[in-house]
Amino acid sequence: MQWLYFAIFAIFAPVQALAPRFVASVTENELPLYKLDVNEPRTINVDKVKQYSGYLTVRPESSSFFGGKKDDRLFFWLFESRNDPRTDPIVLWLNGGPGCSSMQAILFENGPSTLSDNNVVTPNPYSWNNNATIIYLDQPLNVGYSVGTDKVRTTQQAAEDVYSFLTLLFKQFPEYADLPFHIAGESYAGRYIPVIAERIMDARNRAITVESILMGNGLVDVVAEYASYYPMLCGQGGYKEVLDPQVCSKMQKDLPQCISDLQSCVDYGTRSSCYKSSGSCSSQNQFGKLNPYDIRLPCPQTRTNMCYKGLDNVQDFFDSSAVKTGLGVDQDVTYQVCSTNFNGGFDRWDRYEPTKHNVTTILGQGVRVLVYHGDKDIIVNWLSGQAWTRDLSWSGHQQFVDAIKSPKNWTVANKPAGQVSQVGALTFLRVYDAGHMVPHDQPAAALDMFNRWIHQKGSFEDAAPPSDDGQSGGDWGWHDDSWGGGPATVTVTATRPRYSRPVTTVTIRPY
Ligand SMILES: *[C@@H]1O[C@H](CO)[C@@H](O)[C@H](O)[C@H]1NC(C)=O
Ligand SMILES: *[C@@H]1O[C@H](CO)[C@@H](O)[C@H](O)[C@H]1NC(C)=O
Ligand SMILES: *[C@@H]1O[C@H](CO)[C@@H](O)[C@H](O)[C@H]1NC(C)=O
Repeated sequence: MQWLYFAIFAIFAPVQALAPRFVASVTENELPLYKLDVNEPRTINVDKVKQYSGYLTVRPESSSFFGGKKDDRLFFWLFESRNDPRTDPIVLWLNGGPGCSSMQAILFENGPSTLSDNNVVTPNPYSWNNNATIIYLDQPLNVGYSVGTDKVRTTQQAAEDVYSFLTLLFKQFPEYADLPFHIAGESYAGRYIPVIAERIMDARNRAITVESILMGNGLVDVVAEYASYYPMLCGQGGYKEVLDPQVCSKMQKDLPQCISDLQSCVDYGTRSSCYKSSGSCSSQNQFGKLNPYDIRLPCPQTRTNMCYKGLDNVQDFFDSSAVKTGLGVDQDVTYQVCSTNFNGGFDRWDRYEPTKHNVTTILGQGVRVLVYHGDKDIIVNWLSGQAWTRDLSWSGHQQFVDAIKSPKNWTVANKPAGQVSQVGALTFLRVYDAGHMVPHDQPAAALDMFNRWIHQKGSFEDAAPPSDDGQSGGDWGWHDDSWGGGPATVTVTATRPRYSRPVTTVTIRPY
């Protein structure tokens, strides 16, 4: 494989950083508000494969018209497949937040390299571009390397820009347009992805075909999210109780009111119920010193406020002058892994709109959906993913309820890697011993998952022999089941007398 051939190199002292080579400027009559500039980076050595980077400029005319206004621009970086870019699928990867940069995944999750503690860039043998071309996109505006004077306030608006980006990219590279196309991402991308996929499918000329979507610890249903903190933190999520018993009983006691208010907020979008839920749900997400992305870990002080020291290094890498030069990014852009000023511009209620209805629509059109969750995450934990997929309304619903009750084992390199529930186009996958960032925590298992999904139509059940070229299978130990399950299914029944609507019942089945 290609990664074997390249040396380890320190990136902070590049011999010389050259600006990328200009490739093309792309526009399209149907998208008068957009222009895509494509470059080829030459000196940023995170992989040997062919790469493109560049910007989608939004409303290029108006921004140059009014002096002093910064262009609204979305940054992307594409890495071709290490295997066969002419036939391997092409995948868009999005991080969440909202406000977090997808570039971090290039060095911290599923990308071509990793950064060691002393900032040495080291090839990642488990990169998702082993068998796929991957596009990393910083969106919405003002995230990562993407800048703008305007603000994007909602996922729907963001999806418009992403749709235009893809249309122009595939126009420039018809050879990519014919490949199977998938959209993958993590966390808040559970909002972005179903909406983007539906936007693409709604397009008049349907130039892009979405073959599948993959959501890792994705926020799809805020009600299930809140209902699952109590069981996850209090010993019913396949891990020991990590909070004091008094805290757990308060969470349990407060939960019905929280769910009732949240459901009203979701159903009616009335600010009063939404504000009320902020109060009544406040005891549900007090994680204290815990790392909200991994129940097993503490959360140390870091500059990114993201609990992982490694992300500070990733931030320094992308904020360095040489890397910006090499990628064609303006020096005055301050790179942050998760933008601190972004959230203010984004509608704080965007997260309350569930995307499970969009998932229903997508499934109905035959698009495959993979919902995978690292089972040690707290913030968007696997219990919530299991609950919303089980309750999802679609043609396979009844069979899926049964599939969730008796999941199948998934094995990687002869080790238990997780459990899978699968009916037709929908798959729920619990990934053992991974937190919020599955490819970071379980690189070998994550790559196996990804390749099975995009190359074998998502067949997880055959315990394929190790396919891992003698590399060690990542640093995971044997799956530890010793915490066992909790005593009972947690069912929250919340009544909403004011609206005399049916009660909300959220059932979180313990591990
Ligand atoms: C993935 O890439 C490797 C290395 O090029 C190749 O040997 C393998 O057959 C590829 N797998 C698939 C499913 O295409
Ligand atoms: C997604 O679902 C919501 C309802 O939850 C709907 O309003 C919206 O039109 C759907 N599609 C898109 C592309 O957002
Ligand atoms: C899954 O593996 C466990 C051991 O890790 C075993 O006890 C269980 O029976 C297996 N389940 C199925 C459905 O094969």
